[in-house]
Amino acid sequence: MAKIAPSLLSADFANLSEEIKKIEKGGADYLHLDVMDGIFVSNITFGPPVIKSLRKVTDMPFDVHLMIDKPERFIKNFAEAGADILTIHPEATIHLHKTIQEIKSFGIKAGVSLNPSTDLSVLNYIIEDLDLILIMTVNPGFGGQGFIETMMDKIKDLRNLIDQKGLDIILEVDGGVKLSNAKKLTDLGVDLLVAGSEVFGAEDIEQRTREFKLIIDK
Ligand code: DX5
Ligand code: ZN
Repeated sequence: MAKIAPSLLSADFANLSEEIKKIEKGGADYLHLDVMDGIFVSNITFGPPVIKSLRKVTDMPFDVHLMIDKPERFIKNFAEAGADILTIHPEATIHLHKTIQEIKSFGIKAGVSLNPSTDLSVLNYIIEDLDLILIMTVNPGFGGQGFIETMMDKIKDLRNLIDQKGLDIILEVDGGVKLSNAKKLTDLGVDLLVAGSEVFGAEDIEQRTREFKLIIDK
């Protein structure tokens, strides 16, 4: 059964704990936290101190998506702040294997996120070490962008790769996920859907979360 991870990027940053409570009541499975540094992507969000504070207001697992250059510099900080899953971009580090091992050394899940143009071959030799693979279905940096339809083939290819190898890896998709394409994605074998603007842009955030759950539970 697929799961939903609302992305806090589109939430009201002046009321984060209230926003989190709404998605929690709606049945969200994870909280997706987008960390941006203004270098790897042209936007800046928040870092370990904010995540550490949010850790106190919910028991939902934290799915932390690092869109930062040289993430190896901050693995310890994010692990200690309360990340349950720490996902890095191969485009941002020349030490992908080493950084994955470091994430796992903190006893948390390690993920790799691929930009739209990044080939699946970057997963060669490291896939067995991964707990999660995130396919970016927009170019990272901003919420509210349109889903890149050509990523459908990439999702299918990754599903086949994971299944052929018999691996237990969460296949996550992030960017442009809406109520209208959620079912199509879970039918392709996506395990975890990230949705930002579609959840936090809704009039009733709790109800919107519930609507996602109903669609993906089918
Ligand atoms: C984009 C972020 C996403 C973002 C998705 O770089 O990684 O998590 O919040 O936003 P929507 O769902 O609005 O496309
Ligand atoms: Zn994200």
